[in-house]
Amino acid sequence: MKLDNSIAAVITGGASGLGEATARMLAAQGVKVAILDMAAERGAEVAKEIGAVFCEADVTDEASVDAALSRARAANGAERILVNCAGIAPGKRTVSKKRDTGELVAHDLATFRRAVEVNLIGTFQMIAKSAAAMAGLAPVTEDGGRGVVVCTASVAAQDGQIGQAAYAASKAGVVGLTLPVARDLASFGIRVVTILPGLFHTPMFESVPEDFRKSLAASVPFPSRLGRPDEYAQLVRAIVENDMLNGESIRLDGALRMQPK
Ligand SMILES: NC(=O)c1ccc[n+]([C@@H]2O[C@H](COP(=O)([O-])OP(=O)(O)OC[C@H]3O[C@@H](n4cnc5c(N)ncnc54)[C@H](O)[C@@H]3O)[C@@H](O)[C@H]2O)c1
Repeated sequence: MKLDNSIAAVITGGASGLGEATARMLAAQGVKVAILDMAAERGAEVAKEIGAVFCEADVTDEASVDAALSRARAANGAERILVNCAGIAPGKRTVSKKRDTGELVAHDLATFRRAVEVNLIGTFQMIAKSAAAMAGLAPVTEDGGRGVVVCTASVAAQDGQIGQAAYAASKAGVVGLTLPVARDLASFGIRVVTILPGLFHTPMFESVPEDFRKSLAASVPFPSRLGRPDEYAQLVRAIVENDMLNGESIRLDGALRMQPK
């Protein structure tokens, strides 16, 4: 699918990091962008800067997603591109030991459930609602293509580290739905592709001490550094523009394979 000003896009998590870089890249190509995020202040700021619409929503809350998609569509028309970047990365071991008392504590289910709610169910909710709108649009490619969905999992879906049970399970779910959803949506001309980023320098890493950041960068075989958000956006662009990419999950990680910790 060609990127131009006849196309509208919705980017969840577009207020920050990988989603923000994607929103910037698409807006620079003339695409009409709507940023859907919980972070109202930052989301509105980014949207204003790039001429996008900001729609506040929590991807786990159906009413707020419906309201946000209505706003986005009223401003830009129905989206042909959905990029799911909204996500959280809780860290907790399945069993941990309290520092002071040595007491053994089981992983709480609220943290596990929230990771699955945001990263997996939130992603699926966005896909289903967006695809329903895309399916009603006229085709725009010579193959009858109507739209493209890009999801964001993580290399943790395949090599989750100690403390990543909830995060890895939620992201593995995103990898797992990619092929069946692509098959579900094939008759409507809608493609679905998932990216598994390795280590990317986003606001998530701002709080990480410089030394630790350097050791993480050194663990990437080549190029031996953290990825830049614009490199993630570059892959989103390639996915949207390449009509043959469908039903696949792609690692973007400089050959990194995460160790247990
Ligand atoms: N940065 C990395 O190294 C890395 C690696 C692998 C995967 N990822 C994944 O990429 C995605 C983007 O990560 P990032 O590094 O840009 O993070 P980030 O924290 O910079 O951005 C995430 C955005 O999602 C939004 N968000 C969180 N929960 C939400 C919800 N319930 N509803 C709506 N918006 C919500 C946040 O407000 C934020 O703006 C995430 O899914 C993350 O798991 C990131």
